[in-house]
Formats: sequence, C-alpha cells, structure tokens
Amino acid sequence: MNLPNMKEARLRTNKEVEFLDAKNIKSNKFQNQKYFIRTYGCQMNVHDSEEIKGILENLGFKETEKLEEANIVVLNTCAIRENAHDKVFGFLGRLKHLKRENSNLIICIGGCMPQEESVATLLKEKYPFVNIVFGTHNINDLGSMILEENKKQQIEVYSIEGNVYEHMDYVRDSKITAWVNIMYGCDKFCTYCIVPFTRGKQRSRKMEEIIKEVEDLKRKGYMEVTLLGQNVNAYGKDLDYGYDFATLLENVAKTNIPRIRFVTSHPWDFTDEMIDVIARYQNIMPYIHLPLQSGSTKILKLMGRRYTKEEYITLYNKIKKSIPGVSITTDIIVGFPNETDEDFKETLDVVNKCKFDGAFTFIYSPREGTPAAKIKDSIPLSTKEERLHELNELINDYSLKHNQEYLGKIVEVLVLGPSEKGKDKVYGYTKTMKLVNIENAKEDIGKLINVKITDAKSFSLDGKKEVFAKN
Ligand code: 5AD
Ligand code: SF4
Repeated sequence: MNLPNMKEARLRTNKEVEFLDAKNIKSNKFQNQKYFIRTYGCQMNVHDSEEIKGILENLGFKETEKLEEANIVVLNTCAIRENAHDKVFGFLGRLKHLKRENSNLIICIGGCMPQEESVATLLKEKYPFVNIVFGTHNINDLGSMILEENKKQQIEVYSIEGNVYEHMDYVRDSKITAWVNIMYGCDKFCTYCIVPFTRGKQRSRKMEEIIKEVEDLKRKGYMEVTLLGQNVNAYGKDLDYGYDFATLLENVAKTNIPRIRFVTSHPWDFTDEMIDVIARYQNIMPYIHLPLQSGSTKILKLMGRRYTKEEYITLYNKIKKSIPGVSITTDIIVGFPNETDEDFKETLDVVNKCKFDGAFTFIYSPREGTPAAKIKDSIPLSTKEERLHELNELINDYSLKHNQEYLGKIVEVLVLGPSEKGKDKVYGYTKTMKLVNIENAKEDIGKLINVKITDAKSFSLDGKKEVFAKN
C-alpha cells in the first residue's frame, strides 16, 4: 500500500516527469456488465471521468444511469471544500446498503479526496466495503486494478506527481464540445487551496500533442474546445521549450476549430501577449474566468495571491479595453480568517468597479494541511453567511444588467442540446458564455446559429432563431 506523503510530493521536479503512452488495456471480462459513475467538483474532474469511462468501456462495461443496475460504481471525488467531502461520505452510506444486497458490486473511489492522507486512512479503517481506492496520479492504473479485483480492498494512491499520459481512450460526454487538458497540477500554492497537494506540481503537456488532439477533434466534427488547467496562464513555465500560453493559444486558434475557450486564469501569469492573441483571433471566445478571491489587498496577501486590489483592477480594465465585448466572470471567497467588515467592503468595491458578468462565490472552508488552516478563524458562521448573501445579491444584479444589454440583439449561439425550459426548446451558449434557451431550433443541435434575444434573466437569456451562420 502506498499512502500519500505530502512532503514527498514537493520534492519531485518536473524534469523527472515522463511523457508516456496511456495503457488503454482492453478486455472482454466484463462484457454485458454495467458501470455507474458520479463526478464531483471541477471541469478537471469531469474530464478525468471521461478518461475513467474510457477505461471501463475498454474492459467491456456499459454505462447506466441507474445505480441499482450497476456492477461497478465509481465516485470521482473533489476535496476543494468540506461540503464536497460530506456529499461523498453521504453517498457511501447508500452504497454500503446496496452492497449488502449485492456483495459482488465493485465500489471504487478516486480523484482528489483519496489524495488526502486522512481520507485514505479513513477509507482503509472505516470503509472496508470499498474495493478500490485510487488517486489523481494513477487513474491510468484503474483498468489493471479492476482486473486484479479479488474482494480485498486495494488502495493505490501516490503522493508523487503522475507522469503525463498521451493518447488516452476518452469516452467524451459531448460530440460538440470537448475538454482538452493542457497541463496538470498547480505551483501557485494559494494558502487556502488543497489543489497543489491533491493534484501535484504543474506539468504541462507538449504543445504538439495538444495541437494534434485539437486537430483530431476538429476532424471528428467538434465545434468547441476548452483548454483545461488549474492556472492556464502558467502553461509551459515548467518546460524548457521556449513557449508559453500565448504561443499555445495562437497555435490552437490556427487549427481553425470554430470555438476555443480556456479555464482557469490566474491574474499573476496573465501577460499582454495573451490578451493580444485573444483579441486577434475570432475563434478564441471573448470570455475569461479571472478569479479575484478577495478585494482586500490585506486578505489577498494572506491568501498568497501575489496581486493587490489595484493590480487586479488594472488587469481587468486592460482586458476589457483590449478585447471588444469580452465577458469576465470570477471566483470570490468570503470569510477568510481575519477578514473584517472593512476587508469585505473592499471586495464589494471591486465588484462595483468591475461589474462582473457572473461569479462563483464561496464561504472559506479550512483544508487540512494548507497554510491557511493554521490561521485562527474567529469569524462567526452567521457573519460569513450574511457576507455571502450580500455579495450574491450584488453579483446577481450585475449579471442581470449584463444580460439585459443583449435584449433585441442578434447573437451567435452554439446549440448544445434539448433545453430543460420546455419541450420545443434547445439551449446553447453565446461566444461570451451566456446561456440561451431557444425556440424552434431542434434541428440545429451542434450548429452555430444566429439568435435574436427576446428576454433576459440573471442566469440565462431567451431567444428565437434568426438566420443561419456558418456551421
Ligand atoms: N474554501 C473556499 N473556497 C475555496 N476555493 C478554493 N479553495 C477553497 C477553500 N479552501 C475556491 C476558489 C477557487 C475555486 C475553484 O474554489 O475561489 O477559485
Ligand atoms: Fe488553488 Fe491557487 Fe492553484 Fe487555483 S492557482 S488551483 S486557487 S493554488
């Protein structure tokens, strides 16, 4: 057994990371058997689940959405906040019950949670009915672990960064939009964040492999790629190839895939060259997710974010000025230890100055092993909740105002599928990542169409199809 050892994780340098071909083990041992997968957390996890699905389908399993039908269940977990843990342990209770009825059920837990030493230990001691525990660094081993399954609990979690695997057999959730990893891990070590511990040091994929993947997706008819990384702007900094995110973005744009976006950006690594490339290429979507985290320079320093309130606003204004019509969303944490009312007002002030298109807002959640978890947290939960509420009201006001600017306009929308808002409706996104529900465009799924916006709410737009754009 190899339990995670966080100190070890910091010792490895990127130079030791190997670029390998994925195993893609094929077998028909589990033909006619079914898998159920549940994914928690960020887009990175969603894409990891596409890799896990590929592994399972290579072994013969078919997907089911009915838990009771499954022969194998995989939980791909998230560790970013405490409530992510709670959800997983809640679901494990259900699975324990199910296992009593079906002792052959194989239960697997992977992703970020097992990377925490305390969780891996807890699974070993208190959850013996879980068959397979794997981490973020060895997803590629899941196939062989399942083939070796013999009802004894297998725990394989590595603290050391995984190698970079190429040519994986993904089972992608969509035939229209695709996630493309450009890097793994993060070197920023923001003081509240568990990610550098659960996902390890930054490892960038080589540019030629990324371009090949995008070209292949384009050939298959994909309309949009999202370049994925914890801090995409730092892409390439761990390699000595002399290229960075601006170079990568420009080369991805030159593949002529119709739409490109990227998440997540860190203000510290955002350069003028990157802004310039985004502005120059029509197929790079004018949409940037630029986490602020706090508007108080004092709190930003405690968070280890490496920018001040003023520097964030300057970058924000530069992006707004340079990229016409750009929409910018953000992440904000309230209730970080030592955040006073004055500090919180600074956050509201930045929101009032930047008028974000939207934001994900969170109450600070201490994560064991991170530096911030050692800072005494004396803010009452009720105060944190009040701050979150006040912040959300303000954010929603601005979201609505931004959406109202679209009223009566004709915008290009990539249609993704049937809408939840009515039988005759489909949904899609504008170039600025505004969700639009559209009437009478069922035959346009997978296409770029022009839509006239007829109604605007805080979180979505309504529209009617106009004339065809390119498809
Ligand atoms: N507590 C609350 N929010 C957090 N985030 C990251 N770590 C924590 C934490 N410990 C938020 C940040 C990040 C987003 C993905 O999750 O805002 O940008
Ligand atoms: Fe976490 Fe900071 Fe890295 Fe984002 S940049 S993943 S918040 S450490």
